Amino acid sequence: MTVEGPMKFTILKEEKHTGARLGLLETPHGSYETPMFMPVGTQATVKTMAPEELKDMGSGIILSNTYHLWLRPGEDLVEEAGGLHQFMNWDQAILTDSGGFQVFSLAKIRNIQEDGVRFKSHLDGSDLFLSPEKSIDIQNKLGADIIMSFDECPPKDYNHSQMKESMERTLRWAERGKLAHARPHDQALFGIAQGGVFEDLRSWHAKELADMDFDGYSIGGVSVGETKEDMYRAVDYAIPHLPKSKPRYLMGIGTPDAIIEGAIRGIDMQDCVLPTRIARNGTAMTHFGRVVVRNAKYERDFTPLDPMCDCYCCQNYTRAYLRHLIKTKEVLGMRLISYHNLRFLIKVTEDIRQAIKDDNLIDYRDEFFERYGYNEP
Ligand code: GUN
Ligand code: ZN
Repeated sequence: MTVEGPMKFTILKEEKHTGARLGLLETPHGSYETPMFMPVGTQATVKTMAPEELKDMGSGIILSNTYHLWLRPGEDLVEEAGGLHQFMNWDQAILTDSGGFQVFSLAKIRNIQEDGVRFKSHLDGSDLFLSPEKSIDIQNKLGADIIMSFDECPPKDYNHSQMKESMERTLRWAERGKLAHARPHDQALFGIAQGGVFEDLRSWHAKELADMDFDGYSIGGVSVGETKEDMYRAVDYAIPHLPKSKPRYLMGIGTPDAIIEGAIRGIDMQDCVLPTRIARNGTAMTHFGRVVVRNAKYERDFTPLDPMCDCYCCQNYTRAYLRHLIKTKEVLGMRLISYHNLRFLIKVTEDIRQAIKDDNLIDYRDEFFERYGYNEP
């Protein structure tokens, strides 16, 4: 299908009692209902999952990372392959993160200057430089449907003035990235709002970015060690200043409780490595809380991982078998639990969307928490 501009976002319904919205995000690679959860495929693969499996579980947009693909295999190679969709055989939409966050979390010896960030590669220690222009250029070559501004993700212990200084630079970087964007006709560009836990800074940054008129808005700098309450407050400070008609993306959030609380506050998109990361060491998210299949109590448990789950893993395999696979380090164990965890979070967003249609999102949340427990780490 064709869409006008790089992306079209339509709000189909607003929930009566919360800030949640049911939306439709139309991209050059398919249309998706929101709120949605986006699996992470850092290295141009959602670890252990084939594209057909992702489609089977109802996955829409997947996320990939500028920083990693820039280092290996390089954006020129991906461009030569026909772009990221073709390279990885994914015909649905892709979102790339700008590299800002990865530089700050992975790379060593950083030197943040007005022009960009100097740092050493986490792979071989070589000297690297990433700037707003470079990040956008790489993302233009990778060719994702949605791309991110290059931002600084400030540590949570920055004081007010350090935070403000970093955020002012992120605004200048956002402006520079916008000017450098060579594919505004087919790649949507999002701005990233920061601000730590400071109310005035969160509001101010959201407002400034909104004035710059991006295709959508991300809320970054969350889940960096603050409490969940602080994170929800940060979202609450930013949201009223973001345009209602544009999609809002809460970056790096992937526990079911936070996905639900985010949606209640008006978040449309979320992503996280958590479901696939914990799956690979044998931890499942289920409707009844986390299940660590390695645990001895599952040795003779011939029931499915999650009795409420409709996924391929839960329809065909038992906890005892998964425990055996994980204990023997068999790849199938990691694959099956990854499949389940991703399907679980995607199902949560499907249920959220149904609850928005039914105007009973708070009831849904309370019932979910009743089963799941409130103490998700
Ligand atoms: N992923 C999670 N948090 C962030 C953030 O603050 N900035 C970017 N670019 N990516 C993120
Ligand atoms: Zn399942």
